[in-house]
Amino acid sequence: MATATSHLSVEAERLFSLLLDVDCTPGSKWTLERCREIAPLTAEINELKREKNAVILAHSYVNPEIVYGVADYRSDSYALSLAARDSGADVIVFAGVVFMAETAKVLSPRATVLVPDRASGCSLADSLSGDELRELKRHHPDAAVVCYINSSVEVKAESDVCVTSGNAYKVVASLREREVLFVPDSIMARNLQDELRRNGVDKVLHTSDGSCIVHDQFTPDLIETERARYPDLAVVSHPECAPEIVARSDYVGSTGGMMEFVRYSDAPYFMMLTECGLVSRLEAENRDKRFISSCKLCPYMKLNSLRKIRDVLVAPTADQVIEVEPAIASDARAAIDRMFELAATPQR
Ligand code: 13P
Ligand code: SF4
Repeated sequence: MATATSHLSVEAERLFSLLLDVDCTPGSKWTLERCREIAPLTAEINELKREKNAVILAHSYVNPEIVYGVADYRSDSYALSLAARDSGADVIVFAGVVFMAETAKVLSPRATVLVPDRASGCSLADSLSGDELRELKRHHPDAAVVCYINSSVEVKAESDVCVTSGNAYKVVASLREREVLFVPDSIMARNLQDELRRNGVDKVLHTSDGSCIVHDQFTPDLIETERARYPDLAVVSHPECAPEIVARSDYVGSTGGMMEFVRYSDAPYFMMLTECGLVSRLEAENRDKRFISSCKLCPYMKLNSLRKIRDVLVAPTADQVIEVEPAIASDARAAIDRMFELAATPQR
């Protein structure tokens, strides 16, 4: 009994050392008391992982108690895809959203891939079906079909190549075809088209009409207001933000790229135009820097919780187990593998 109690207090101390500078609820930081409350659950989940040869992949947008309490890998969509492909685990719990778990299943077909909450969709992935993409392809027969990874597995299966926020420009610029059907993010397509034009790359992008309900909330006046208050402010945004935001940013990139930028920047203040989970990670890992409140919550990412992760590891329900039809998985895998190949090719 005494051993179990001391094991839990070590776990609580471990959590507190990682979370102490992170907001727990708006305006209040994590306390040792709160870490003591969650320690039994994180300890139980970490023990279940050992028993089941399971790994937890967490996107940086999920709550920090997941990212720092139980995740084996914490990163952006690209790095988590590689982790899913290479982990060798029997069970993968994806604390993120469903399209990420589908990608993990395609890349690691022998593993049991689980999602804590099946309702964790994505406004981009849910904006376009495989049938709708087939119809769009009929209107653009000469275009290379490029899907952003924030898409369903059926859309990936209909695409020539997949991209993530970190490699979209490099992959699209490297394609032979002049015409590109880029789905389902119409805003990222506009940002790509602008960048290609600026760099003198002759391509015409067609798109569908999806957008991210989180990143499309940022407006340029927000940036102007904060720049007036903090002249040394570095504005950091995700390429799912509108072109007017991108044009006013000091850095634009994937969530992994945004973390790298902050780590190596000398700026004292940062305005992060992305989901709040990333700001929690930055607070935890950059204690000398200050983040100006600006982030927004993704309701889908926030469906993940420690309790749901414990429950899915103990007894998954049918809808928490990700299954992908073999023919669709094989076509989707080809599009994802082509991304790995093109993303790794040195640029001329
Ligand atoms: P990243 O691949 O940059 O982490 O983006 C994922 C995402 O869903 C952004 O909204
Ligand atoms: Fe989808 Fe936007 Fe949420 Fe990312 S932040 S998972 S793009 S809804």
